[in-house]
Amino acid sequence: MALRISSRSELPSFMVMDVLEKAERMTNLPQPLLRLEMGQPSSPPPKAALDAIINHVHDISAHGYTLSRGTIELTEAIARHYKRWYDLDVKPEQVLVTVGSSLGFMMAFLTCFEAGDKIAMASPGYSAYRNLMLSASLEPMLINIDPEYNSRLTVETLEKLDTIPDGLIIASPANPTGVVMTGDELAAISRWCEANGVRLISDEIYHGISFDKTDHCAMQYSSSALIMNSFSKYFAMTGHRVGWIIAPDDLVDPLERLAQNCFISANTLSQIAATAALDNPETYREMDSYVARYRVNRDLLIDRLPQELLGNFPYPEGGFYIYADTSALSNNSAELTDTFLNDLYIATTPGIDFDEAAGHLSLRFSFAGSTEDMAEAADRLNRWVQSRR
Ligand SMILES: Cc1ncc(COP(=O)(O)O)c(C=O)c1O
Repeated sequence: MALRISSRSELPSFMVMDVLEKAERMTNLPQPLLRLEMGQPSSPPPKAALDAIINHVHDISAHGYTLSRGTIELTEAIARHYKRWYDLDVKPEQVLVTVGSSLGFMMAFLTCFEAGDKIAMASPGYSAYRNLMLSASLEPMLINIDPEYNSRLTVETLEKLDTIPDGLIIASPANPTGVVMTGDELAAISRWCEANGVRLISDEIYHGISFDKTDHCAMQYSSSALIMNSFSKYFAMTGHRVGWIIAPDDLVDPLERLAQNCFISANTLSQIAATAALDNPETYREMDSYVARYRVNRDLLIDRLPQELLGNFPYPEGGFYIYADTSALSNNSAELTDTFLNDLYIATTPGIDFDEAAGHLSLRFSFAGSTEDMAEAADRLNRWVQSRR
């Protein structure tokens, strides 16, 4: 007799990971595979992090558990980072180290909401939010921000909602649009959340990767918001799986209890590496040089990708993605992604991963890789489009 599988587990897959799997299984190709699917820097972690790993690899305590909220050293270093970057006073006790920010989202959902609660998010938006909500028996409320709405989630949009949600997730810089919120926009959204009893969850994982604007932390404007962040993007440490939450005082204990029971503690050696990275000024110079490369890559793709692949796309002000409007070429982004992967050896992510309603007309290019790869991708795509004109 087949036993039951919970309806909670019937969530959609995170499509970029499916593309990643297909890409990783492709071997003996006539041309190098260009990886523009993953939001993953192609450059190494900070040197200070690598040195710390080498120096601690034989240290037996680096292979044991840590406190569930993270090592004392790392939580203190994260608190200092907030003083340096935003001039904010964060108490180390408010910091909870998580297994990537990904698990942090699940912890936030389980801690802040009851089954059936409604959580608003932008669409297009990061699909794992929506998928995790479904598995936590929460109801995603998708707010359309396509280019017709200027691709921005604003307080004006929130004011027009028929139902006030229980929670709101925002991201700036946003994935997949690259839109960056101004301080005024973030302040207005934070005020609206506080006035309406809406728990704000601010995903700040792309902070540090804004090209012209300043990144603002929601803590500047809200005392009840959860701040989500990670060493994955700016610090180029995706595989280390170290993220963090800055929590309001009353959420610290519930989140810690969940961490204790859910994963005990994040990877110890990676926490040591992350602490060393944060405490070394050279790290910021190194990572800023990566950000300079992302900007060059963005400009190169916008300049050299064929017009049929850009259409009416949101201008990426931060992060490392172009959310291309491919409606001139196809109305099936999954098929287009397969064509690019199988025929051109370019991995990309279909828009339906980010927007169930209109994502069939879009494709996401990650420009976190090398500039040479971006140039080669633009050349291959130009040749392909020309052959079809
Ligand atoms: C907007 C956003 N939030 C969160 C994450 C999760 O990252 P991690 O679990 O590596 O911290 C990602 C990863 O791509 C992302 O794009």
